[in-house]
Amino acid sequence: MTDDAMTRPRQAQPVLSLRGISKHFGAVSALTDIELDVDAGEVVALVGDNGAGKSTLVKLLAGVHQPSAGTITFCGEQVTLPDPATALDLGIATVFQDLALCENLDVVANIFLGRELSPLCLDEVSMEVRAWTLLNDLAARIPSVRDVVASLSGGQRQTVAIARSLLLEPKLIMLDEPTAALGVAQTAEVLNLIDRVRDRGLGVIMISHNMEDVRAVADRIVVLRLGRNNGVFYPDSSNEELVAAITGATENAVSRRADRRLAEHRAEHHAEHDASGDT
Ligand SMILES: Nc1ncnc2c1ncn2[C@@H]1O[C@H](COP(=O)(O)OP(=O)(O)OP(=O)(O)O)[C@@H](O)[C@H]1O
Ligand SMILES: [Mg+2]
Repeated sequence: MTDDAMTRPRQAQPVLSLRGISKHFGAVSALTDIELDVDAGEVVALVGDNGAGKSTLVKLLAGVHQPSAGTITFCGEQVTLPDPATALDLGIATVFQDLALCENLDVVANIFLGRELSPLCLDEVSMEVRAWTLLNDLAARIPSVRDVVASLSGGQRQTVAIARSLLLEPKLIMLDEPTAALGVAQTAEVLNLIDRVRDRGLGVIMISHNMEDVRAVADRIVVLRLGRNNGVFYPDSSNEELVAAITGATENAVSRRADRRLAEHRAEHHAEHDASGDT
């Protein structure tokens, strides 16, 4: 990453913009009043402790769950994502943690899985060429596109899953823990791949628990804590700052600021409440 990338100015119109997004599961508030912006050609890391709401947020954007409140603006238009097909058609691709690849099929078949009857319906040779092109563009190291997925390493599988998600030329791609199960060399390869996806001009949301990986590839780091925004950081932020925001340690600037905002909000709310004469 160049120095420019660290200070890249935010664009006028983000690819994705969330405002006031909340999600309840019965009495459980998984997300409360979330704000998130992602620009084209930007990698946003979504970090937070277990249960912070990261996967829930990804599922809202993948059309798996519906928000209880708030707006989703995608490429300048307010959208609803009632199902996964709608999200995909709009250009929001998701690589879920389990990857959903078919072990016994080769790389080409996996990349085109479920797309055989779509307008992308192609003959074997064209599919193989397209698969190669996609993987070459990503400078991916796959020995042969005719290898079955069962014979590939974890990093290579992640690569196939990412290539597959790029087939429909999305504008936003979400990766849930793309490096979780990988060794050092494979992690580096997948992080390079994410760099290349960004260079193609896509917005990228990457979930990770590994701060080293996050720092290596992210342009911005968005922290969620207990289903709320808890600060935005940059790759040069200190580990202490990041960890404090993630765990909610009280003595740090971010949580102080958040606490102050909450107190102000409550005071306003009470003032309104009193003014309206409610009991
Ligand atoms: N389908 C569901 N029904 C009820 N509660 C849910 C559901 N999905 C998530 N939750 C709750 O929402 C909260 C956020 O969960 P989520 O899976 O989004 O966290 P996460 O940040 O992805 O955590 P992890 O790092 O462990 O994957 C948790 O309290 C979880 O129990
Ligand atoms: Mg999760």
